[in-house]
Amino acid sequence: MFDLDKKVDRLGTDCTKWDRYKSRYGLDDVIALWVADMDFNTVPEVSEALKKRAEHMIYGYTDPGDDLYDEIIAFEKRHHDVDIEKDDIILSTGVVYSLYTLVEMLVREDEKIILMPPIYPPLFNTPKHLNREVVYSKLINEDEHYHIDFEDLKAKIENDPKIKCFILCNPHNPTGACYSREEIDKIAKICEENDLWLISDEIHGDLTMPGYKKYSALRSGYKKTITLNAPTKTFNLAGLKISYCLTKDKALADDFRKEAKASGLSSINIFGFEALKAAYHYGDEWLKEVREYIYQNFLFLDAYLKEHLPMVKFHIPEATYLAWLDLNALDLKEDYVDRLMKEGHVQFNPGAAFSEDYSKYIRVNCATDRNTLKEGLDRLVKWLKDNKAL
Ligand SMILES: Cc1ncc(COP(=O)(O)O)c(C=O)c1O
Repeated sequence: MFDLDKKVDRLGTDCTKWDRYKSRYGLDDVIALWVADMDFNTVPEVSEALKKRAEHMIYGYTDPGDDLYDEIIAFEKRHHDVDIEKDDIILSTGVVYSLYTLVEMLVREDEKIILMPPIYPPLFNTPKHLNREVVYSKLINEDEHYHIDFEDLKAKIENDPKIKCFILCNPHNPTGACYSREEIDKIAKICEENDLWLISDEIHGDLTMPGYKKYSALRSGYKKTITLNAPTKTFNLAGLKISYCLTKDKALADDFRKEAKASGLSSINIFGFEALKAAYHYGDEWLKEVREYIYQNFLFLDAYLKEHLPMVKFHIPEATYLAWLDLNALDLKEDYVDRLMKEGHVQFNPGAAFSEDYSKYIRVNCATDRNTLKEGLDRLVKWLKDNKAL
């Protein structure tokens, strides 16, 4: 049993989530329920492996052994029933780095990318930064159940031959949808019929809730598929900058490796290797408990909202540790998320970052101890009352 109720003080660790308030705003008591990492200590064996490696006092260029690939192959098989070989794996420093590289490689400047908002902002900001046009096929929101609009998706792709790439997020950040086998196969079929690349960001794929399991896009069998995976969300290792892509397209894998080398990525962080190996080897029990704890946090959040903010709409996610809350029924001004942080001392992600239609939504990171989550919610309610938004 891991003590996930224990509050871990992250202040002073140079972390993105908690350490910015003092220097930027002179605040030292903000509850941070935003950026997607966890407030839980990672798997103890990971920490042991890092300490052991740190004792060897040379941290030179790296070249991973088969043991690293073997752990990835075993983990993908055990958790997702994905069959891969060493050659199908491309190591990377992060999912967004991989996305950047793939967009550069696969989509010309006069070509387009399609994706389904509301969605994790870098999935559209990175292509836009690279001057690739992004086409949006909005998810259908049926009372906080989000569905793919296949009719719209198909029509947009078929009517625009410039669309060359589909970026999928499965499970979907921020809606928490974990797409079914039928849905993924259908997406792959549309991509195949129209000769699109299918890039599937599956970084939240290990964090499914009871009754759900990620069906990897790789299992559809469509060759022009590449998935973006990592142990970083799953085991709280984002600062170690380690991830990997999986594809059955050998030419794509070779091209990616060449591109990564040319852009300076021939050596990945040595501590990232150690953490991945230990997490994938020893982390199953920890992961099981963390997923259950997050699920209990979602149930807690659901009950809390029903009691204190019944007008807020929320559907328990099928995956991820992110709750997506509809605050449209409240009387809120545009800058409410910023004011919640500065006046209410609680920080959420603004919905507008995920899609302009969702400015009255907030994303709440529930990967924290329950008392911290409760304190954050209490502050939300108090600020709303103080500002007569209820
Ligand atoms: C869907 C999704 N993709 C990618 C990332 C970032 O991955 P990385 O840190 O490996 O670039 C995140 C982080 O929140 C995410 O939610």
